[in-house]
Order: sequence, then C-alpha cells, then structure tokens
Amino acid sequence: GAKNAAVAILPAALLVNGTCRIENVPDISDVRLLLEILSDMGANIRRLSRNAVEIDCRHARNATAPIELVRRIRASYYLIGVQLGRFGHAHVAMPGGCNFGVRPIDQHIKGFEQLGAKVTIHHGKIDARAEELTGNHIYLDCPSVGATINIMMAACMAPGKTIIENPAKEPHIVDVASFLNSMGANIKGAGTDAIRIRGVEKLHGSEYSIIPDQIEAGTYMLAVAATRGDVYIKNVIPKHLEAITAKLTEIGAEVEEFDDCVRVKADKRLSYANVKTMPYPGFPTDMQPQMTTLLALSEGTSIVTETIFETRLKYVSELRRMGANIAVEGNAAFITGVEGFT
Ligand code: UD1
Repeated sequence: GAKNAAVAILPAALLVNGTCRIENVPDISDVRLLLEILSDMGANIRRLSRNAVEIDCRHARNATAPIELVRRIRASYYLIGVQLGRFGHAHVAMPGGCNFGVRPIDQHIKGFEQLGAKVTIHHGKIDARAEELTGNHIYLDCPSVGATINIMMAACMAPGKTIIENPAKEPHIVDVASFLNSMGANIKGAGTDAIRIRGVEKLHGSEYSIIPDQIEAGTYMLAVAATRGDVYIKNVIPKHLEAITAKLTEIGAEVEEFDDCVRVKADKRLSYANVKTMPYPGFPTDMQPQMTTLLALSEGTSIVTETIFETRLKYVSELRRMGANIAVEGNAAFITGVEGFT
C-alpha cells in the first residue's frame, strides 16, 4: 500500500464517529507511529492482519498527540485538518520528518484560515480552532500534497462549497478523496486542476483498500535497470508509473505494461538522460535519488535537477565515496556515468 496515502487515510478515520476497516496498509514505522498516536487519542485499533487494520473512533477524544511521536513523522500535520474537521479544535506539535531543508506548512495554514479557523503557532505547537468551518475558494501558491489533503479533510464537513485551485494531483490525493467519499464525503475533481468539496453533515465508517505504492514500485523498476535484470513487478497501477517508465525507456531499458503489472528488462549498460523533478504527473522527487544512482552507472553525462526540495541531494557525497562521479551545484547534480561502484 502507498505510504503517502496510508499516512493520510489512517488519521482521516478520526473524522468519523464510527469504525473504518482499512486494507493494503503498509507495515512500516510511520504507520505504526500513527496508529500509536490514534490509540493515544482514544481510538480502538484492531490489527486484522499484517496489512489490515480496524480503527474504531467512537470514543476518540480531542487530545493533543504526544509530542515525542508527532516529531518523528512528517504526516502528523494531518492531525490538524482531521481534529479541526471533527472537533473544531486542533493543538499539534510542529511536524518532524525527513530533513530536505525548509519544509514550510504555510499553505496548510492559509487553507485552514480561509475555512474560518484561527491559527496560531506558539512554542513549536500549532493551535487551530473554529466555532464552525465554512466552505471557501482556496488558491494554493504551490501544489502542495500535504496542504491539498489537509484542506480536503478539514473541509469535508464544513457547510457550503470549498474549491481548492492549483491542488496537488498525485495518485494518493485521489486515493484519500476516494476514501473520504467512501465515508460519505462529497469530493469531486481530485487529480484535476480544481477540487470541489460540498460539505456534508456527517461521515460514516467504511471499508477501504489503499492503492499500491508508486515509489516502492518505481524503486524496484530502477533497481532492475541498474542491475541489468528482467523482473515482473506485480500489483501496481502502471498509469502511476508513467514518468518513471518514460525515463527508463529513454535510457534504453525495456518496460512492458500489463493491467496491474510492469515488466522491466535491461540487458546492457543504459545511457544518459536529463531529469527534472516536478509535481505529478512529472518525475517524482521521491524517485530522484534512485534515478541519480541509476544514471551514475549509465553511460554518458546526465543532469538531474531537483525543483521540489532544494537540499535533497545530500546523499550524493555517500555515492561519491562508492566511486560515483557526480558534481552538485545548487539544486542540480551533474553526473558522469561510471562502470560500477565499489
Ligand atoms: C509529500 C510527501 C513526500 C513528497 C512530497 C512531494 C507525504 C507524507 N509526503 O510531502 O514524500 O516528497 O509530497 O511530492 O505525503 N510547500 C510550501 N508551503 C506549504 C507546503 C509545501 O511552500 O505549506 C512547498 C514545499 O517546501 C515543497 C513543495 O511545496 O517545495 C511541495 O511540498 P509538499 O507537496 O507539501 O510536500 P509534503 O506534503 O511535505
């Protein structure tokens, strides 16, 4: 299951005074942490199997999540949208997570404020409260994944109509919207240039299965290409992998698409390419390090430009220790391919 969908869908279960059963949940530390946070807030969590969980939020309280847990996971910012949406008040520590440099949440805050919340930040904690949220027209300055999902979650029960313009369009945005709709929300246009949400009075419990993780699948695809393998990667949505497939094909690998599977084959050293990370459907920033590594083993000179997180090239110094020939200037990596790493 997709990690970036799971980390939004699990907290979203808190929006309902009922029970959600969620399947295809990845068994990863972020998920375990979020379940611990939800449990601490009074949710009753039942693990049905390694990848399925039942979350009963009938007795959930509007408690402040433990700071030591919140600081360990970026996606804890979803607690703000969810608590605001269900209880009208959220008090959450500033989120932690991977260090890619400055990761502001001003677009989340702008969205909450435009829905009528008063947001203050004090001693590293965000306090957002509203007597009642009201639908509004919100224009995001940049297509932020977190802000788009957070606003969708807060707005589902806000009376009136909310429109999010310039939203992120990643597959996990669509997945979270589908989950919310399965709970009775009225969200249209997720995955397009405008998301329209008509506030509903309340949501109900539901059963949902999370989409496959495009980044995990893409990582296997590039690993196959880097090691000159021939592998079928099953249980994927090939459409979500198009940016990766296109680059692999461009550098000489073969990619064959099936309904829910891709086959990647590479029997020779691949060639160079230029790659620029972009919001979906562009090349994902979360695949940038894997792509740089593959290009470092390919023939010729490649340029990889990171446009989403300015300091997301820090790992390059470690690759260099293994023999990669990469120079970093600002947000660009200039790669001269080598035959192999040591
Ligand atoms: C999410 C993903 C992460 C992925 C990233 C970009 C989750 C939990 N994490 O992170 O894996 O790398 O999308 O696809 O889903 N920005 C602002 N103000 C804001 C919010 C964001 O300026 O309020 C900027 C960021 O600094 C960044 C860009 O917008 O340059 C995209 O960030 P965003 O899409 O919000 O990333 P995350 O939600 O943190």
